[in-house]
Amino acid sequence: MRKAEVLQLLRGGEYVSGEMLGKELGISRVAVCKIIASLKKEGFLIDAVPNRGYCLLRQELSQEQILSLLPESGWSVQVLPEVDSTNNALKRSCDAPHGTVLLTGRQTGGRGRLGRQFASPPGGVYLSALLRPNVFADQLLHLTPMAAVAVRRAIFDCCRISACIKWTNDLVCEGKKLCGILTELSTEAGSGALQSVIIGIGINCNTALAELPQEVQGMATSLQEITGKAVDPNELAAALIVRLQEMDALLLTQKEAWMREYASACITLGKRIQVIAGETRTEAFAEGIDENGGLIVRYDTGKTAAISTGEVSVRGMYGYY
Ligand code: BTN
Repeated sequence: MRKAEVLQLLRGGEYVSGEMLGKELGISRVAVCKIIASLKKEGFLIDAVPNRGYCLLRQELSQEQILSLLPESGWSVQVLPEVDSTNNALKRSCDAPHGTVLLTGRQTGGRGRLGRQFASPPGGVYLSALLRPNVFADQLLHLTPMAAVAVRRAIFDCCRISACIKWTNDLVCEGKKLCGILTELSTEAGSGALQSVIIGIGINCNTALAELPQEVQGMATSLQEITGKAVDPNELAAALIVRLQEMDALLLTQKEAWMREYASACITLGKRIQVIAGETRTEAFAEGIDENGGLIVRYDTGKTAAISTGEVSVRGMYGYY
């Protein structure tokens, strides 16, 4: 119990003296020392400097630390030091139950939408969550947009940053990409019943932007760059899991409210865009978000349509001017 309180006081990134910790918690400095020693044993990296105190150092993802920040739930959380892709790894463990979460700080074969690679250098938080909602696939068209709202809420909880959403699944800050989401569904061939859903989330947390491929460096940002300080990946991971659990609980009942939140954060709306289909790019205006998170566009011919898949370029973003 006291351990969680000490961790809470040390999470600010500043040195806190043993005396101050003792005062805050109403315990002796010797008791503080014992708690610090026990936290170190659990793997927390705590620097101790005479006359300055203690500081929680930049953290790696750790299952213990994430669990220490989470309320009790039936979900399972696993952290791997490295994996090809957390989405792939969850697909391989085909019997994994609803609420299985896999995290890593480095992917060697990260995957993005439309068959693209997703560069995943160290410093990022790469998370996949497996859900087994008891519905048909066509009842979950709003899943990816709802996940984008959940991630946006988690980033705010953790860093007080209000990210925008670039339709459909990028979180952006100051016009630069902070996070991508890849949702994959598996259905039963005969009935169309949903077997599982994997929501994969990749966030540039403390990513050194120079480690991203050159062609995306100018279009990407990280939480560390935006806040000006290192962000605890375990706090971010815990916030993501809490918000995904909230999304899971409200998946079928709160769609409208979440789509309204999606629309209010969607930077694509009110802009000139290009709808990209294969080699063809069609100029249009982004007018709204429909009830499933589809993008309502008005083509220059005057015709309107709702697009639910594919890609759009937004004028003024990612090098499209
Ligand atoms: C995109 O921007 O196109 C989507 C990127 C999704 C990346 C995440 S990282 C965790 C999970 N594992 C993957 O291989 N991809 C997703």
